Amino acid sequence: MENLKDNILKADTLEALEGLRIEIFGKRGILSKEFIKLKDIPPQEKKAFAQNLNEQKEKLQSVFDDRYKEVKKIEIENILKSEKIDVSLYSNISNKASLHPVMETMDKIIDYFVSMNFAVESGPVVEDDFHNFEALNLPKYHPARDMQDTFFCGDGKLLRTHTSPVQIRTMKNSTPPIRMIAPGSVFRRDYDVTHTPMFHQIEGLVVDKKGVVSFANLKSILIDFLQYMFGDVEVRFRPSFFPFTEPSAEVDISCIFCEAKGCRICSHTGWLEVLGCGVVDPNVFDAVGYKDVSGYAFGLGIERFAMLLHRVPDLRTLFEGDIRLMEQFR
Ligand code: PHE
Repeated sequence: MENLKDNILKADTLEALEGLRIEIFGKRGILSKEFIKLKDIPPQEKKAFAQNLNEQKEKLQSVFDDRYKEVKKIEIENILKSEKIDVSLYSNISNKASLHPVMETMDKIIDYFVSMNFAVESGPVVEDDFHNFEALNLPKYHPARDMQDTFFCGDGKLLRTHTSPVQIRTMKNSTPPIRMIAPGSVFRRDYDVTHTPMFHQIEGLVVDKKGVVSFANLKSILIDFLQYMFGDVEVRFRPSFFPFTEPSAEVDISCIFCEAKGCRICSHTGWLEVLGCGVVDPNVFDAVGYKDVSGYAFGLGIERFAMLLHRVPDLRTLFEGDIRLMEQFR
């Protein structure tokens, strides 16, 4: 019996213990065989023999149960140890996220103007008629309002159609000199290869005492900016019309795809239109109560820049959230 106890204590796997359980306590096990001997024992010794055997059995059983618990605990610990995940280990499977190309382009543009000492301003996306139109020299029923297919919200509110209302808000909240840009989303009822109902613009506004800021300043900063964005391109200013600037210009760069020879993307003109600008119309300064100042303003569509920089043929794909497109920008 003593060596059975030793065997139990030596067993160090549940499997070995199970073998011992069958060998000792099983139907045909050692203890059963001992009990069978009972029938050959003289009657007067039977009681003592049986009592002794039962005591031995109980002792062995309790040794076995204790050992079973111990071994089980050790095995669980081993499993936990072997399945532990070391989250600090290096893995070469990487799923790095990337900036959306529109945001990356926006950051690049902001970087340029911040380096030129422009402050970054913002305004609400749900605007009112005054800031989006009226104060920008776009009175009610002015035909130029049709240039911007507006989403109206009812109750006199609308989704801003450009970032120009931030010009008005910034001028009303501060005093000249002003040197600001305003990046943000804008909304128009438009949907085709180069238009989505939501897109992003960056507005620029510089205001100072009359005579300090001129169209020449506007030209020089925009030429520098466009060459920073697109490299060694030619820049051309074409007379245009915006209600809030006079004179106004649209700005083209020489086509970066065909070196101005003419291709499908530049409609065989050799030029790509990239932004609108001009000298701030006096009516705009009247609307915000500014006197004896002059200034210039410009506005550009960020998606247009991103499309040109990354050669994206259809603007709508930028907003479909297709992971295969995003992966190309990692
Ligand atoms: N707000 C104009 C647009 O959305 C762009 C612009 C801004 C033009 C400032 C001139 C000056 O088309």
